[in-house]
Amino acid sequence: MSARQLRQVLSVLPFALSASGTALYSTYSFNPLEHLGGVAPYFEPQDPPTDPAPPQGCTPSRVAYLNRHAAIYANDYDYDEYIGPFVEKLENNTAIDWSKIPSLNFLADWTAPFSEAEAELLTQVGKLEATQLGVSLNLRYPQLRLPSKVWTSSAERTYKSAQSFVRGLETDNNQINVVSIYESKEAGADSLTPYKSCPAYSSSAGSDQSSVYKEKFTKPIMARLNALAPEFNFTSDDIYGMMELCGYETVVRGKSPFCDLDLFSPDDWLAWEYSEDIRYHYNVGYGNQVSRPVGLPWFNATANILMAHTAAEDMYVSFTHRELPPMVLVAMGLFNNSAFGGSEATINDTMPLDRINYRRAWKSSHVLPFMSNIAIERLNCTGSYGYDDGDYYRVLVNSASQELPGCGDGPGNSCSRAGFEKYVQDRVAMFAGFSEKCGVDYKNTTDVMTIYSDPSVGNGTVVGK
Ligand SMILES: *[C@@H]1O[C@H](CO)[C@@H](O)[C@H](O)[C@H]1NC(C)=O
Ligand SMILES: *[C@@H]1O[C@H](CO)[C@@H](O)[C@H](O)[C@H]1NC(C)=O
Ligand SMILES: *[C@@H]1O[C@H](CO)[C@@H](O)[C@H](O)[C@H]1NC(C)=O
Ligand SMILES: *[C@@H]1O[C@H](CO)[C@@H](O)[C@H](O)[C@H]1NC(C)=O
Ligand SMILES: *[C@@H]1O[C@H](CO)[C@@H](O)[C@H](O)[C@H]1NC(C)=O
Ligand SMILES: *[C@@H]1O[C@H](CO)[C@@H](O)[C@H](O)[C@H]1NC(C)=O
Ligand SMILES: *[C@@H]1O[C@H](CO)[C@@H](O)[C@H](O)[C@H]1NC(C)=O
Ligand SMILES: *[C@@H]1O[C@H](CO)[C@@H](O)[C@H](O)[C@H]1NC(C)=O
Repeated sequence: MSARQLRQVLSVLPFALSASGTALYSTYSFNPLEHLGGVAPYFEPQDPPTDPAPPQGCTPSRVAYLNRHAAIYANDYDYDEYIGPFVEKLENNTAIDWSKIPSLNFLADWTAPFSEAEAELLTQVGKLEATQLGVSLNLRYPQLRLPSKVWTSSAERTYKSAQSFVRGLETDNNQINVVSIYESKEAGADSLTPYKSCPAYSSSAGSDQSSVYKEKFTKPIMARLNALAPEFNFTSDDIYGMMELCGYETVVRGKSPFCDLDLFSPDDWLAWEYSEDIRYHYNVGYGNQVSRPVGLPWFNATANILMAHTAAEDMYVSFTHRELPPMVLVAMGLFNNSAFGGSEATINDTMPLDRINYRRAWKSSHVLPFMSNIAIERLNCTGSYGYDDGDYYRVLVNSASQELPGCGDGPGNSCSRAGFEKYVQDRVAMFAGFSEKCGVDYKNTTDVMTIYSDPSVGNGTVVGK
């Protein structure tokens, strides 16, 4: 068959062969909302695509969840650094007739989806995300008692997330209290925001490394947009802010023209995502030594409650900010780029600043979207073929079960009680010492988290409608 004949045959197939590189058999599709790091609306990335249902013969008998708060309008830093200046520049440049400019014509009548005053607040979409998680846990654990309380750090966005979650979980009004844990800078490890009381942690860590790759990937995008609208003089920060707006506008308005793949291509999004992953690697990930001692106390306290003979609650649920869940994952040894080779010493080599490591395990979009959650389940397994009856422990990250490295001797990525006990002890032996490793310079610090059993934190307050 000649090339011409082949083209004729193919031309009758019901899809466009020429449009944007589509080829025969291509099932390519791309959703930027799943590559937005810390501004991704909640989704379940199925990383890995393991079964969220308990393994055969196993029933959850006690569980703990650590949740990031749900979607907010924008965080202060993102607003001040990127989004605010872009919006102001847009307002200043009234002479540009955007309506005639391809892929940017929506800017002719686009307005910012929020003001600076709203920046840190939960959006309606955020309330829905948190309520949905409450309903999900209600369905997932019908055999467990509802908790008498859930814990949250004291910021409005975490508190309101906890309230919305409770409304989805409870079956009648006023069944579950919300307990607020003050975000003290002097609480040692004993809060849901221990990084705030760790002087060795800096919220700007990772910015320098991230901006190396940011400068690289935004350069051709700037050139392309500046060819379309030279008067605007798009900068690297403008591009970055526009890409953040895809996430933030979506969680405010339900959709955003900044997500259009004609404006930023799939490869542009993958590059943006990677620059964020570099930042989180050095900020709250394996590239920051303090992630280990700061993430450990929650893991240790929670593991011990789950292993205890009896406990006050069947469900321990807590809300915090984006920093803590990834640090806990590091303390647990999950999403470690070096897990199957390399070593602790070469971890930074896995996140080069000049090119994307597409095979990395560390993907912020997978571990810290809005409403991201880490669960540890205690499973009661009987008649689980090939395994002894008894207690097993399983970790879920956004519903995907994860095997703790070297602790996978149970069904469905779970770990036996003896294995889990040893795993926790080993992590404590390696990473304990919050106060010393954080260089704590205030009095009355502690290396241990006790909020779940400390009566002095109180019983919290009921959740109104
Ligand atoms: C917008 O214009 C005002 C007034 O000329 C100026 O002070 C401000 O720096 C401009 N902002 C941006 C982001 O260009
Ligand atoms: C474009 O913006 C950059 C960064 O703010 C600035 O250095 C440069 O002078 C601007 N160019 C023009 C033509 O305004
Ligand atoms: C990451 O994996 C490497 C290689 O297995 C290991 O040496 C290192 O301890 C791991 N890091 C953490 C924090 O678990
Ligand atoms: C990775 O880089 C960070 C930041 O420079 C540094 O503090 C850390 O010690 C490095 N990690 C290793 C294992 O070299
Ligand atoms: C575990 O499950 C078995 C079978 O359903 C049940 O008999 C046993 O009481 C359970 N044990 C605990 C500690 O819940
Ligand atoms: C020291 O910390 C404990 C536990 O957090 C607290 O109960 C106590 O009031 C603190 N004491 C002082 C003097 O701050
Ligand atoms: C770990 O938890 C146990 C049991 O609650 C506690 O005795 C120990 O001090 C904790 N260690 C750390 C470093 O959190
Ligand atoms: C919290 O609730 C428990 C159990 O109902 C009760 O014994 C205790 O007094 C309450 N604490 C406060 C501070 O109200």
